[in-house]
Amino acid sequence: MLIRVLSTHPALAFRMATPLSHSPLLKSPSYLFLRHHSFAPPSLSCFSSFRSFSSPLSCPFSSLSSDRSSKKWMQPIAALLEIGGVKIARDDVVKESDPANNVPDTIFSKLGTELHRRDNHPIGILKNAIYDYFDTNISAKFVKFDDLCPIVSVKENFDDVLVPADHISRSYNDTYYVDAQTVLRCHTSAHQAELLRKGHTQFLVTGDVYRRDSIDSTHYPVFHQMEGVRVFSPDDWAGSGMDATSFAAMDLKKSLEGLAKHLFGTVDMRWVDTYFPFTNPSFELEIYFQEKWMEVLGCGVTEQEILRRSGRTDGVAWAFGLGLERLAMVLFDIPDIRLFWSTDQRFTSQFSEGKLGIKFKPFSKYPPCYKDMSFWISDSFTENNLCEVVRGIAGDLVEEVQLIDNFTNKKGMTSHCYRIAYRSMERSLTDEEINQLQWRVREAAQSKLNVVLR
Ligand code: DAH
Repeated sequence: MLIRVLSTHPALAFRMATPLSHSPLLKSPSYLFLRHHSFAPPSLSCFSSFRSFSSPLSCPFSSLSSDRSSKKWMQPIAALLEIGGVKIARDDVVKESDPANNVPDTIFSKLGTELHRRDNHPIGILKNAIYDYFDTNISAKFVKFDDLCPIVSVKENFDDVLVPADHISRSYNDTYYVDAQTVLRCHTSAHQAELLRKGHTQFLVTGDVYRRDSIDSTHYPVFHQMEGVRVFSPDDWAGSGMDATSFAAMDLKKSLEGLAKHLFGTVDMRWVDTYFPFTNPSFELEIYFQEKWMEVLGCGVTEQEILRRSGRTDGVAWAFGLGLERLAMVLFDIPDIRLFWSTDQRFTSQFSEGKLGIKFKPFSKYPPCYKDMSFWISDSFTENNLCEVVRGIAGDLVEEVQLIDNFTNKKGMTSHCYRIAYRSMERSLTDEEINQLQWRVREAAQSKLNVVLR
């Protein structure tokens, strides 16, 4: 995933690791590469950097918003959904006539699926295990929300949690916009400010989140996060001998180390200093699992401004956000993120309510088929746009889109070669089927991405 390395801000390289145990620390540059890219979480990467962009409108791609002609490969689309009491029609979310809209049907079809609310699904089982931890190990009672509507305002998703106006996560390349003021939430932090304003002081929010992203076995444009927030009042830290921020940071780390132990057993873990717009200080927790350090969550002491706006000027708070898929992939040995969406009985029947320790047994391994595609890119080309086009045509039959060659000629023209891996989790694909898909991907890339095939 060369492209992901290139797009990462060097600020990431300056993060400080504080080991909590005696495991060897991996300090070489390849460690950064591995941690963020070969098993990068779908969840935490975009906020922990300072990357900025010019303006969402500098990247118009309404014609890209989906492969709307390729109905053949799409899942059936429900006419009307109800999520958390809100009725949603397709036309409320997929708006062909709005140039600011970039939600394809493939994404709309995921709304309302709510894997996190299924007690027999790995994502639901994990959510419940985290609930159990908070219920039994933390004295404060956390209120749980898991049906808040994923369609939120730009204000809720970004402004309310202090994401700067030029932050990369706001770009049309990274976020699904319903219209210029409305997005599919790209993190559960979108609900922090509103719940604080309503007076909640301890809460967990679980939900589906949406991000335009590259394609590989650990990245999918819809995934699930859990957000946790705890507010303290001066009485809580008065006797501790600590200032409010140190007290909150200490409690946060203790609570989350406990959670990691609850889920993973005795593991080596370490804290890494990082940056999030909504917290200061900010940390990531990594655990040493299967011979790698793996980032499992982002967290920190909530920016005072967020609390102030919610009317709590005397308090201090901590917050965290964790990606459920990547934890579940490790806990259940699930090798490909697409499997979470499988309705194949051979997948679904392997999991049952309350059983965290179960290891997934692959029911079949069909061979992948690789197709390469080279083209001259234009200035507006992005890998996320290509991935959206590929997904619009091949859906979940695409396993990976990987940049394998990249050069600029003497005239300044840049060529990219992408290798697309097609593989079904459930059946063998025929040569004819794959050739047709690839043919349509080539045509769509040319017509929608302004690239010139070579
Ligand atoms: N919202 C962050 C993300 O999706 C995760 C996160 C980090 C949530 C720190 C928090 C936090 O509440 O304090 O990348």
